[in-house]
Amino acid sequence: MSQTEQAPSTNRLGFGSQFSTHLISARYADGAWSAAALQDFADLTMSPAMMAVHYGQAIFEGLKAFRADEQTVLIFRAADCARRFDRSATRMGMPPLPAGMFVDAVTRLVGADAAEVPSDEGSSLYLRPVMFADETSLAVRSSTEFRFLAMASPVDSFFASGRAMIDAFAQRSQIRAALGGTGDVKCAGNYAGAMAAKSDAIARGCDEVLWLDAVDHRYIEEFGAMNCFVVKGSGADAELITPPLTGTILAGHTRATVIKLAQRRGIKISEQPIALADVMAADSSITEVFACGTAAGVAPIRTIVTDSGESRTIGHQPGPVTAALAADYTAVVHGDLDAEPDWIIRITH
Ligand SMILES: Cc1ncc(COP(=O)(O)O)c(C=O)c1O
Repeated sequence: MSQTEQAPSTNRLGFGSQFSTHLISARYADGAWSAAALQDFADLTMSPAMMAVHYGQAIFEGLKAFRADEQTVLIFRAADCARRFDRSATRMGMPPLPAGMFVDAVTRLVGADAAEVPSDEGSSLYLRPVMFADETSLAVRSSTEFRFLAMASPVDSFFASGRAMIDAFAQRSQIRAALGGTGDVKCAGNYAGAMAAKSDAIARGCDEVLWLDAVDHRYIEEFGAMNCFVVKGSGADAELITPPLTGTILAGHTRATVIKLAQRRGIKISEQPIALADVMAADSSITEVFACGTAAGVAPIRTIVTDSGESRTIGHQPGPVTAALAADYTAVVHGDLDAEPDWIIRITH
């Protein structure tokens, strides 16, 4: 693992390559979790037969702490992440954390490293809680020992290109998730299975994969690490649409936040299947497309390219609905717009 580095305040941080000073660590053995300990970020020692390495029994979460002012940082939607972490653990046959441990861990970590939350526009402290199978064994069964870690990384742009608008590649030769699989939880394997497609998307000059449904390869599911919204029509008739959570899509907290922010603005919103063909059509009524997730925030889509050679440029500037929701999202996470109850943990330092 990388060495600990302090975040420079002006250089481009990128995503997940620098780490804050501390780490939270706990271990599960003999049917119980140890107390979580705050320690320096440092390399781990591991057995070559550590089960997570062989069978991928590993889950994670992603949330952010944002700077509100010089003395205040805000952790966004930690309780929701704790609930999703529990769901992921249960789906992967792993022991959920004791009640409160997840939120305590991230609160303690951010409290310890609050001075390392960057302040430049578009920057934040990305928090990465992870749980993995820690038993030394090659037996093909659930591990009986697990490790929980929470680390933090000062970040800015999620995309290596650093572009404000992103291009997506829709492909039909691979799928991300099928019903009954693990698409609606955050297990490491979902991401491992998507790496080849992401490399392919990048090789074609795009930033991200746009995944389609596993059965017909017709309907938009989500992007690689973000949910998808489209805007149909414009002006007073603009309608926001996002695919329903059918069991194969990750229920993003940014998605839920965007829905709430759109409702506050009185924008018509519905959850409906979105056919890729309807987005790609030359006379499409879809006027805007955006991706959203903790890591990338609200990311406007510029162009969608498909594996059958179609390409549609949605727009070279974020559309009005996307721009309004992106501004609201930025305002709410930095404490400049009222949050809903339970969205924010405030830390002063
Ligand atoms: C596959 C996938 N979809 C959607 C999201 C967005 O989720 P959230 O808004 O909770 O970050 C993520 C982010 O973790 C993801 O990995």
